[in-house]
Amino acid sequence: MSVLQGKKILLGITGGIAAYKTAHLVRLFIKLKAEVRVILTPSAKDFITPLTLSTLSKNEVYSSFYNEEDENAVWNNHVDLGLWADLMLIAPATANTMSKMKNGTADNLLVATYLSAKCPVYFAPAMDLDMYKHASTKESLITLQSIGNILIPAASGELASGLVGEGRMAEPEDIVSFIENDILNQLPLKGQKIVITAGPTYEAIDPVRFIGNHSSGKMGFALAKAAAHLGAEVYLITGPTKEQVVHSLIHRVDVVSAQEMYDAVHDVFQESNIAIFSAAVADYKPKNKVDQKIKKADASLALELTPTPDILASVGKIKTNQYLVGFALETNNELENAKKKITSKHLDAIVLNSLNDKGAGFATNTNKITIIDKNLNSEVFNLKSKDEVAQDILTYILQNRQA
Ligand code: C5P
Repeated sequence: MSVLQGKKILLGITGGIAAYKTAHLVRLFIKLKAEVRVILTPSAKDFITPLTLSTLSKNEVYSSFYNEEDENAVWNNHVDLGLWADLMLIAPATANTMSKMKNGTADNLLVATYLSAKCPVYFAPAMDLDMYKHASTKESLITLQSIGNILIPAASGELASGLVGEGRMAEPEDIVSFIENDILNQLPLKGQKIVITAGPTYEAIDPVRFIGNHSSGKMGFALAKAAAHLGAEVYLITGPTKEQVVHSLIHRVDVVSAQEMYDAVHDVFQESNIAIFSAAVADYKPKNKVDQKIKKADASLALELTPTPDILASVGKIKTNQYLVGFALETNNELENAKKKITSKHLDAIVLNSLNDKGAGFATNTNKITIIDKNLNSEVFNLKSKDEVAQDILTYILQNRQA
């Protein structure tokens, strides 16, 4: 999943030959599930048609303050467009438009919207070699960056004029990765590694039967997605689950038993910065491994169980700088038990969810949590979707880790 998913992108196209490439650029944004609205300067329409762009962006395309041919025309409000956007991209940015941006000229919808935008503004210059080298252009490039605009540098290569040199608009794929990387670099968990355990574990009784529990894995997967959205590299170590996730920052490790989860966690724990243990690990497993299916008989059957390794407690013992968070699902004496676990497992915080709370716990899509820190301060949260709960937990970690 891209950091651009769900982002509202305002694409401003100016009148240069590279405008023809913006059809492809819009398609790339749409493929990444971004929302795209397009503003063209009047001269950009000579290079690419509004129809092409509205078809690809699935949105109306704007090119003037109102449509002169329509007597019922409405005013295209540049302020609303500017406020709608999460980011604005001006590509290609001609020397003319850059100069207007620099001087605060607002004589077309694009530059007026630029002046109203509160979001980050990226610009990808494109022009002929000599224009690019001109002192005025250089001044625009410097000033535009000094006032906070983000330059997507032009590439060198063959230009439409036949000249060879600097001035080619960056290729659409490069523009997309430039913006993705720029957003990623600003995320609060960028460069951090997070281990998350999720789901149940299955402890084999025989080749066809196991001891398991009703954990769905939803909470752990929600945490993994929320952490990746914040830029973290996530090691999601999960027991058997129907949950799915595709994200370039999430490394999914599938395990079945508590011992396998233990091994997978220890493979990555030392190099992690944060670890969140939301898995419902089986506390016991059958003592003896049976290779053949146990036959049905009339007599009762006793299974001898032995404890599984306590994964969370084991990393609590070896932790150095990792911020360690456990989960506690309790049916009685919730607060008391949760507090004991903080000390016995050397946690920084514990997320308590009680089965007594309606909508909290296993297979539901919602959860109601209380987070308790190692000084035994607690913070109570409302019943929310597991995605929102995941965001609350990560926000809590970000705030308390630095405290
Ligand atoms: O002690 P209890 O099982 O209630 O503790 C729950 C917390 O410990 C959860 O964070 C769970 O993921 C973790 N845990 C573990 N390994 C176990 C048992 C629990 O990591 N064997």
